Amino acid sequence: MFLYLLALLVLFYLFRWIRELPRVGDKANKYVYITGCDTGFGNLLARHLDKMGFRVIAGCYTEKGEEQLKKACSSNLITTHLDVTSKESLAKVAAMIKDKVGVHGLWALVNNAGVAVPSGPCDWHTLDDYKSMLEVNLNGVIGATLSVLPLIKKARGRVVNVASVFGRICVTGGPYPVSKFGVEGFNDSLRFTLAPFGVKVLCIEPGFFKTSVTDSELHTRNVQTLWDRLPQDVKDDYGVEYLQKSKDVIKEKVSQMSDGDLMKVVSCMEHAVSATWPRKRYSPGWDAKFFWLPMSYMPTCFVDYFFLKNAVPIAKKLQ
Ligand SMILES: NC(=O)c1ccc[n+]([C@@H]2O[C@H](COP(=O)([O-])OP(=O)(O)OC[C@H]3O[C@@H](n4cnc5c(N)ncnc54)[C@H](OP(=O)(O)O)[C@@H]3O)[C@@H](O)[C@H]2O)c1
Repeated sequence: MFLYLLALLVLFYLFRWIRELPRVGDKANKYVYITGCDTGFGNLLARHLDKMGFRVIAGCYTEKGEEQLKKACSSNLITTHLDVTSKESLAKVAAMIKDKVGVHGLWALVNNAGVAVPSGPCDWHTLDDYKSMLEVNLNGVIGATLSVLPLIKKARGRVVNVASVFGRICVTGGPYPVSKFGVEGFNDSLRFTLAPFGVKVLCIEPGFFKTSVTDSELHTRNVQTLWDRLPQDVKDDYGVEYLQKSKDVIKEKVSQMSDGDLMKVVSCMEHAVSATWPRKRYSPGWDAKFFWLPMSYMPTCFVDYFFLKNAVPIAKKLQ
């Protein structure tokens, strides 16, 4: 019995491996629009797809990002300034893309731009903190998608959304997991409603990787900034030791947990863009595959118990 099950499993993986090998053709006429190409996954993906022969339109947040990317790529790659929180910026880039792609339409949009701070316990944040992150990580994804959707429908193309394991399980406070759960929701509703048009919607859910999103110095500074503006009663609830221990955890754990091989994520993004039969969901990173995703299927009471047991203790004990 066990051998039959093993054989079935092997056959399943073999079939999936073979099915996922073929790539789409005519790359020279396939335009791919990527947001957040200054650094990290977006930057690496733009270079990688450019090398593969796709026509890359790279949205960069800064001039420096644009210049550096241009220098590293072929003359086929187009860079453009893009702020996903600005309607005008999104509309300007969409008009430029419409002009470039012509009859081909837009083959793929990769919604990659994102920010990771402010991040801390929920009651350390203001509503504006939530709004500002949701503006980039969620509304930016929706806005960029809607701005070019007719062009994607024309090409019977794809939308690739970069969510996170924190769109599947939530063990931190603040707006980041809220934004990523939102991306998952948007991804699924888009996939469902656009399937009849032949448009594929794929989701990337990376674990921890070494980019500015997991930069421990950025997170340590952010925790201190949030702490400094807290009212005294909230500071007393948590205790000053909580702040120091949180910083220690960030310094030790976040960098320890983060994988330096960004190509694990970029290969999944590339597969989503170029495979004839892409996967609906990708979970790059060992931590995503063997810890975060299995955890996300566990009962809530178990997940809460596990993470609260290992959480930094607060000063104020319950009466
Ligand atoms: N690294 C991880 O462990 C991890 C895990 C799961 C999911 N992710 C997700 O992966 C995506 C890429 O992040 P990354 O890790 O590659 O970090 P990253 O290097 O910080 O990349 C994010 C990019 O988004 C850009 N950006 C920020 N605000 C923007 C705006 N308003 N408009 C347009 N672009 C903007 C940033 O530009 P500047 O650099 O100029 O600010 C940067 O180039 C994000 O959605 C992130 O949430 C990352």
